[in-house]
Amino acid sequence: MADFDIRGVREDFPILSKKIEGNQLVYFDNAATSQRPRQVIDGIKYFYENINANPIRSIHRLAEEANEAYESARGKIAKFINAYPDEIVFVKNATEAINLVSFALPFDKGDHILTTYLEHHSNLIPWLRLRDKGVGVDLVDIDQNFELDMGGFNSVSEGTKLVAFTHGSNVTGTITDAERISKLAHDSGAMVLIDAAQTVPHMKIDVKKINPDFLAFSGHKMLGPFGIGVLYVNRRVFGREKPFLTGGEMISNVKMDSIKYADMPGFFEAGTQNIEGAYGLGLAVDYLNSIGMDRIAAHDKELTDYLYDGVKGIDGVHIYSGRSHERGPILSFTVKNAHSHDVAYLLNKKGIAVRSGFQCAQPLVEDKLHAVGGTARASLYLYNTQEEIDRFLSELKNITKMYG
Ligand code: ALA
Repeated sequence: MADFDIRGVREDFPILSKKIEGNQLVYFDNAATSQRPRQVIDGIKYFYENINANPIRSIHRLAEEANEAYESARGKIAKFINAYPDEIVFVKNATEAINLVSFALPFDKGDHILTTYLEHHSNLIPWLRLRDKGVGVDLVDIDQNFELDMGGFNSVSEGTKLVAFTHGSNVTGTITDAERISKLAHDSGAMVLIDAAQTVPHMKIDVKKINPDFLAFSGHKMLGPFGIGVLYVNRRVFGREKPFLTGGEMISNVKMDSIKYADMPGFFEAGTQNIEGAYGLGLAVDYLNSIGMDRIAAHDKELTDYLYDGVKGIDGVHIYSGRSHERGPILSFTVKNAHSHDVAYLLNKKGIAVRSGFQCAQPLVEDKLHAVGGTARASLYLYNTQEEIDRFLSELKNITKMYG
């Protein structure tokens, strides 16, 4: 049983009372995007009705209030991951954050990047793309337990400029030992980028402990609005990057023959930002804090174990996750003889939302998990319940019988 008032939490999420195909919605697609509580939805309306102006640029009262709303959101998010506010860059999402780094670090021919087979495309394509420039990219493999083969990190060498890895797989749910990998990489002089899109929403993250140079996450997976995400940039990296987008607000002095750039985080925030999004993300962080990340993590774990054990007991279902290793609230599976989209389609007929296909991680799903038709994936969050899992398990059993 959750160590918080889960009924009360569910009431905060208006969409959870929606019916799909005549059935009560069971939303198990939280790794794709979470739902939003009233506190965030109403807060955004409040922003437009009471605060809206373009911050920084003007000195009138509304602009000051908008600036205060924007910067106070930055402060909340910094505190949430134990960073300094100037280390928090607002971006569109984790994908943009990682792309930003791939453009802003001066990668040259002969440089080496180490990433892994566990990655979402967002932490893979930006690096593979650099091969065109003559940058070498190697991939750490996964083992039979769906964990990273730590021996693969021995290939970090003096020429390795960056080690980029996920903290939580969006397919297998595997939680990687980010602190250990970060140390291994730094010991060899490499920088570290962590894709934390699947972990920041679900557990307490302390960047001082994990010690990455960059850490990326998205607001929409943690109860916040779409279109807002965060790139954490460790202060020790300040000044080592090139500009990414250029234009207004990322400068401090402009002459026709010389440009002086703004300090961080403005350096990476050219143009008018998603102020509403940042404000909404700050409210989402308030909501998560009001429950407590440790409680959310415990609830996630209890439900994921229950889901795992239930699915494991169904003949004809193959699971791509281990029971024992540390993992997030994600379970990918296939049903014998069925395509993953058919499984998702049939679950949807009963009001149950899961994701299917390659999960934006085709090399992992196809080459490593050998799930040629992709996997179906159930992913949970703080408002999900055991009763919902029971409904899911009962429908999954029916589907396996259909495909016999
Ligand atoms: N990254 C999201 C997912 O895994 C979209 O579904």
